[in-house]
Amino acid sequence: MGQGVLSPAAPVGATAEERAALLEDAGLVRHGGALVLDGIPLAEIAATVGTPTYVYSAAVIRRRYAELDAALAPVPHRIAFAVKANSSRAVLRVFRDLGAGADIVSGGEMRRALMAGFPADRIVFSGVGKTDAELDDAVAAGVGHVHLESTTELDSLAAAAARHRRTVRVGIRVNPDITADTHPYISTGQGGIKFGVPFDQVLPLAREVAQNEWLELDTIAMHLGSQLLQSAPYQKGVARLLDLVAELERAGIDSVTALDIGGGLGIRYRSETPLAPADLARVVLPQLAASGKTVVMEPGRYLAGPAGVLLTTVLARKHSGGKEFVIVDAGMNDLVRPSHYQAYHDIVEVEESGRPQHTVDVVGPVCETGDFLALDRPLPVVEGGEHLAVLGAGAYGFVMSSNYNSRPRAAEVMVDGGSYTIARRRETFDDLIRGEE
Ligand code: LLP
Repeated sequence: MGQGVLSPAAPVGATAEERAALLEDAGLVRHGGALVLDGIPLAEIAATVGTPTYVYSAAVIRRRYAELDAALAPVPHRIAFAVKANSSRAVLRVFRDLGAGADIVSGGEMRRALMAGFPADRIVFSGVGKTDAELDDAVAAGVGHVHLESTTELDSLAAAAARHRRTVRVGIRVNPDITADTHPYISTGQGGIKFGVPFDQVLPLAREVAQNEWLELDTIAMHLGSQLLQSAPYQKGVARLLDLVAELERAGIDSVTALDIGGGLGIRYRSETPLAPADLARVVLPQLAASGKTVVMEPGRYLAGPAGVLLTTVLARKHSGGKEFVIVDAGMNDLVRPSHYQAYHDIVEVEESGRPQHTVDVVGPVCETGDFLALDRPLPVVEGGEHLAVLGAGAYGFVMSSNYNSRPRAAEVMVDGGSYTIARRRETFDDLIRGEE
């Protein structure tokens, strides 16, 4: 289990030091008690846009991208943002302007990436099950890399490439059979799960790719899992990928120029020591540099997670069965991570009240007992109408939201250069029933 974040709902909150680190990661400062992002008081956004609202910081995204880019600087490298973590086009445009690529897993994500202006050749199409139509669209759009996960997919991609008379660069996503220390739902590198091509099947698949006139095998890829806090699994995985490349070369397949070591870098949600890009680089770059291959990473959470907060308003308080409940207007349909993974997200007052703390469950309005943002959490006494900010919500937040209970999805706001824009207006009832008879 990854420390803290994904362990069962934590009975305690962040310490003062942890809280300070979390606010710093998020680019947030307190001015006279008010929580401020890039010069904008979050209370102002809550007042004008309403709640629940996701608020993203372009500055934080840029800072994190620069840190990863600098860590990988000693080797030729590419960074493709995992669009699944946050597919808001306003967020994607920040990555496009940084020169990042986009790692996509569906036709929908491809269209978002193209609309956001990513050059097609900087898009990497990963994912465990791609439809014929999605592969055809990807070839037609000139997507830079398609990462294969099965022979069936190879046949479908080869047919699309022949149809369009286009050469397609292909990667094979390998299952490195490494169990990473994280929540079982997001550990993706061990054997016996649906992801990746098992080692013993890679060579035959690579041969088929190599023999196809429209396909060019240029990447061997892995993704170990998400919210990883240790470098050891990467080190092991890289060694396995390099062994595999050597095996392919011995078999006469020498077209591989890039190694994609996946995403997965963990972040601080409470007490974690995040895996700093520099620490990862120190461990894996020597092996990789010696290979002369281009290094590809496809992180989502690391780049976007700390860059987003979810603003919510206190609706009511309740004392029941010896417990205190703070009922807020953001529910599991807005941020599912606490109820789905028992994930810890720190929650802070938007305006510091100085009131005494008590231990509460912060719960949403959805009709499920599992609808909570925090359990047994120390929080200052809050009153109806006051605002709270849920931290670490920039990755796997809005993208995993739903309309459960016929709740319109939240608004999204981008803060950049001291001003903010609405990146996505709040859904309306008409949005909810669109397409229904
Ligand atoms: N590449 C591949 C092939 C992936 O499957 C993923 C994430 C990533 C990259 C990006 O991983 P990251 O750098 O963000 O860890 N909904 C879960 C996380 C699911 C991750 C799925 N795959 C959560 O809220 O924790």
